[in-house]
This record gives sequence, C-alpha cells and structure tokens, in this order.
Amino acid sequence: MKKIAEHVAIIMDGNGRWAKKRNMPRSYGHKVGSENVISIVKYADKIGIKYLTLYAFSTENRKRSKKEIDYIMMLLVKFIDEKIDELFSENVKLRILGDISVLPQKTMEKVIYAVNKTEKNNGLILNIALNYGGRDEIVRSIKKIISSGYSADEITEKLISDNLYTKDIPDPDLLIRPGGEKRISNFLIYQSAYSELYFSDVLWPDFDTFEFSRALDEYSRRKRRFGGIDE
Ligand code: IPE
Ligand code: IPE
Ligand code: MG
Repeated sequence: MKKIAEHVAIIMDGNGRWAKKRNMPRSYGHKVGSENVISIVKYADKIGIKYLTLYAFSTENRKRSKKEIDYIMMLLVKFIDEKIDELFSENVKLRILGDISVLPQKTMEKVIYAVNKTEKNNGLILNIALNYGGRDEIVRSIKKIISSGYSADEITEKLISDNLYTKDIPDPDLLIRPGGEKRISNFLIYQSAYSELYFSDVLWPDFDTFEFSRALDEYSRRKRRFGGIDE
C-alpha cells in the first residue's frame, strides 16, 4: 500500500501572478484561488489524509494594500457562507491557526461561527492559517510558558510545541508550495523541522487534484530518516 501523509500543509501561493498573466487584477486570482480550496479538501479527505493545513494569510501579508486585504477577508466570508454546509456534511472539523482578533469584525465572527459549527465533527481536520506567522506563534508560546510560571530548566521542545496553535496536531509530514517560490515564508517553522518539502511551479489557482496527487505520490517514495540511518 502507498504511504499516505497523515498531515499535509500547503502554502496557497501564486494567485496574483496567475491573474496578472491573464491581464486581470490580483483580486481575480484570489477569487479563483479560493474556489480551488474545496476540491483539494475533498480529495485530501477521500484519500485518507487526517490533517490538512492551508496557509491563507500570513502576518506579513498585512503589509499589502487595504484593498487587497479587505478583498481576501471578504472571500473568506464568502467561502464559509458557500461551503460550510458541504464541509459539515463531509464531517470536516475546521480550525484556525493564527490571531484572528485583529481581523475585520465580520470575518472574525464568520470564522468563529464555522469553527463552532464543525467543532463536534470527527473527520478531516482542516486548519486554516489565517493571520498566521511562525515566529509570532513561537513568541506567543514562550510568553504563555513564562506567564504560567515555568522555570528555565523546565522548558522542553514538547512544552514549546504544546503551546503553539498546533498543540494537539502532529507535525506536517509533507509541506507543499505551489507558485514557484522555494521558501517557507514563516509557515509552521517550528513544526516543519522534519517535514518533506515539495515545490511546484504551478500557480495555486491551477493546482488541481492531479497536481496534488503528484505531490502525494512523490511523498510516498521519499525515505524519511529523522537524523537516523536506513535499516
Ligand atoms: C497567495 O497568492 C495568496 C496570499 C498570499 C494571500 P499571492 O497573492 O501571494 O500571489 P503572488 O505570489 O503575488 O502571485
Ligand atoms: C505566503 O505567500 C503566504 C500565503 C500564501 C498565505 P507570500 O506570497 O506572502 O510569500 P512571499 O512574500 O513570496 O515570501
Ligand atoms: Mg505570493
């Protein structure tokens, strides 16, 4: 049987360039990119992935124009409005990684609604990284640890892990970046220490289930050693 990744993380990159190639505004790329999400989620569920983490908006993406940010936030509301029933009936449990308290009120409320609605589902765990930054997450973890009164010699790798947004989620087995860039861009930097990395030049709006399955096939052929030696 083919080795299946338990946790797959995807950096959904390339929307702006996809639109520019078509002489369209960046917003159009975000729209088509957001329409791609549901089929990737369903495919992941179908083949037995347990955790799917999608990078939707980074802490650094807040440097972009208000217009672009507002549009992305609107698309998120639209995504939930249109897809929440489908996700619910597929038994998907939605979770958010990131600080949503600074998002527009409407987006924040909609996200909380969707998380609460799917809370008791026990199928695929769909994590959306939203206003997420890996460094920010580590800083928050350390602050929590210090304010809980731990002393320096009690700090362990596990304690830091246990205070990240991903506290009860295993580390990603496979991290996929479509869009042509070969970097991590502050995504799951603590958790991806031993993740398999897969880069694709295909831009996110074109990254369909066929491209996804190619990444998963490659993963199934990778040998993971975690610093050890093959038997
Ligand atoms: C990814 O696409 C979506 C977000 C970062 C919100 P980009 O907007 O980064 O698209 P490119 O990389 O400029 O093509
Ligand atoms: C990473 O893409 C963030 C998301 C896809 C949400 P970016 O487009 O922001 O990354 P850089 O700026 O190319 O590193
Ligand atoms: Mg980009």
